[in-house]
Amino acid sequence: METSRYTLPLLLVAISSLLSLSAQMTGNFKCGEPGDSNTTCRSLVGYSTKNATTYASIQTLFAVESLRSILEANNLPLSTPGAQRVNPNQLVRVPIPCTCSNGTGVSTTGVPVYTVKQGDTLFAIASELFGGLVRFQRISEMNKIPDANEIDIGQRVWIPLPCSCDKVNGGDVVHYAHVVKSGSSLGAVAAQFGTDNGTLALLNGISGDAPLLADYPLDVPLRACSSSVRNNSLDASSMLLPNGSYSITANDCIRCSCEASNNWTLSCEAAQLRPTTWSTCPPSRCPGADNLFLGNTTSTSCGPRSCAYAGYSSQTIFTTLSPDSCSDSGPSGNFASTLSPSFSFVVVLFQCALFCVLLL
Ligand SMILES: *[C@@H]1O[C@H](CO)[C@@H](O)[C@H](O)[C@H]1NC(C)=O
Ligand SMILES: *[C@@H]1O[C@H](CO)[C@@H](O)[C@H](O)[C@H]1NC(C)=O
Ligand SMILES: *[C@@H]1O[C@H](CO)[C@@H](O)[C@H](O)[C@H]1NC(C)=O
Ligand SMILES: *[C@@H]1O[C@H](CO)[C@@H](O)[C@H](O)[C@H]1NC(C)=O
Ligand SMILES: *[C@@H]1O[C@H](CO)[C@@H](O)[C@H](O)[C@H]1NC(C)=O
Ligand SMILES: *[C@@H]1O[C@H](CO)[C@@H](O)[C@H](O)[C@H]1NC(C)=O
Ligand SMILES: *[C@@H]1O[C@H](CO)[C@@H](O)[C@H](O)[C@H]1NC(C)=O
Ligand SMILES: *[C@@H]1O[C@H](CO)[C@@H](O)[C@H](O)[C@H]1NC(C)=O
Repeated sequence: METSRYTLPLLLVAISSLLSLSAQMTGNFKCGEPGDSNTTCRSLVGYSTKNATTYASIQTLFAVESLRSILEANNLPLSTPGAQRVNPNQLVRVPIPCTCSNGTGVSTTGVPVYTVKQGDTLFAIASELFGGLVRFQRISEMNKIPDANEIDIGQRVWIPLPCSCDKVNGGDVVHYAHVVKSGSSLGAVAAQFGTDNGTLALLNGISGDAPLLADYPLDVPLRACSSSVRNNSLDASSMLLPNGSYSITANDCIRCSCEASNNWTLSCEAAQLRPTTWSTCPPSRCPGADNLFLGNTTSTSCGPRSCAYAGYSSQTIFTTLSPDSCSDSGPSGNFASTLSPSFSFVVVLFQCALFCVLLL
C-alpha cells in the first residue's frame, strides 16, 4: 500500500526532472541579481484546479488580504460574493506579495501557509491543490523538510510561489506565473498574453524552440499601464496594473483601471464609495482654469489633455493634467487663482511636496 502511494509521484518526478533538463525550466523565477538586497512588489499567479471552488476559498488558500484584491485583479464587479462558484479549470488571477532575494523571487515568507490534512502528500498539495504553481521539491527545500514523503497531519508548510519584480525590456510589468498546459508553445503563450516568444525565452532561460514543459510555471510579463502616480504616493507600489484589471485606492475614493484599449494609460475616476479613513473624499479636481475633474478630458489647441490621478497622502489626493502635444516635458500643473479654500489647501500641499522633492 505504501509503495503504490508513492510510485506514481516518484515516476512523475523522474520523468519531469528528465524533461526539465531538455527544456531548462526550473519553476523558479529570476528576480534581481544574487547578492542584491531584497526588494518586494506585487505579483500574480494564474490559478486553476480540476475541482470547482469559490473566490472565498481561493482567498483563504492563498492568504490574500482581501476578497476585493482578487476581484480587482480579475476585473470582476465589487458586488461579486465570495461564495461565487469558480468552475473546474477556470483561470483566476491571484495577487501575491513577492520578495526577491539573492536573485530569485518567491512569495513573501509565510504567504501562503497550508496546514497538512489527512491523506495529503506534498506532491498532491503542489500539483493539485496549488494547481502546479510550485514543485513539491521546492516546498520541501524551502521548509527544510528532510523527507518529502514524511509530512505530519497539522504540520504548517509555507508554499513558496514563484514571482518576480524585475522590469522587462526597461518597462514596468506585472509578472504572472502561468502554468503551462500540455501541447502549448512559447509562441502560443506569448500570443495569449501580449508578449513575444523571445522575451519569454530570455526571461525563463529557455533556448530555441524547446517544447514547453507542461504543468510548470512560466514567468509571463504582463505589460502595465503607464500612470501619473508619484513614487512617494502611499499607493505607489500598488498602482502598477496590467490590462483588464482595476484598483480602488486613496481610502476608497478613487477607482483606477487599466485597459489596453485606452492606449495603456491608467484611467482613474471618483469611486463613488464611502471613504474608509476620511469623512469625505477630498475634491479630485485638476488644477487649471477649466472645471476639470478626475477622468475628464478637455480638448485644447494642442490636442486632448485629461485630468489624471497622481497619488495620495494622509491628507489629500493629488491630480495632474496629462501632457498634451505642446508640452515639452512631463505632466505639469497649471494652477489657477480661482480655487475653493479646500482646493487651495491641496495645491499648497502639492507645492510643499514639490518643494521638498526639489530640496532633496
Ligand atoms: C531576504 O529574504 C530572505 C528570504 O525571504 C531572508 O531569509 C533574508 O533574511 C532577507 N534579507 C534581508 C536583508 O532582509
Ligand atoms: C546566493 O546565490 C548564489 C548563487 O546563485 C549562491 O552561491 C549563494 O549561496 C546564495 N546565497 C544565499 C545566502 O542563499
Ligand atoms: C477534488 O475532489 C475530489 C472528489 O471530491 C477529492 O477527492 C479531491 O481531494 C479534490 N481535490 C482537491 C485538490 O481538492
Ligand atoms: C519565435 O517564433 C518565431 C516564429 O514562430 C520563430 O522563428 C523563433 O525561432 C521563435 N523564437 C524563440 C526564441 O522561440
Ligand atoms: C521619485 O521620483 C523623483 C522624480 O520623479 C526621482 O528623482 C526620485 O529618485 C524617485 N525616487 C525613487 C525612490 O524612485
Ligand atoms: C486586454 O484585456 C481584454 C479583456 O479585459 C482583452 O479582450 C484584450 O484582448 C486584452 N488586450 C491585450 C492587448 O492584452
Ligand atoms: C498613446 O500613448 C503614447 C505614449 O504612451 C503617445 O505617444 C501616443 O500619442 C498615444 N496615442 C494616442 C492615440 O493617444
Ligand atoms: C467630469 O467628470 C464628472 C464626474 O466624473 C462628470 O460629472 C462631468 O460630467 C464631467 N465633465 C465633463 C465636461 O466631461
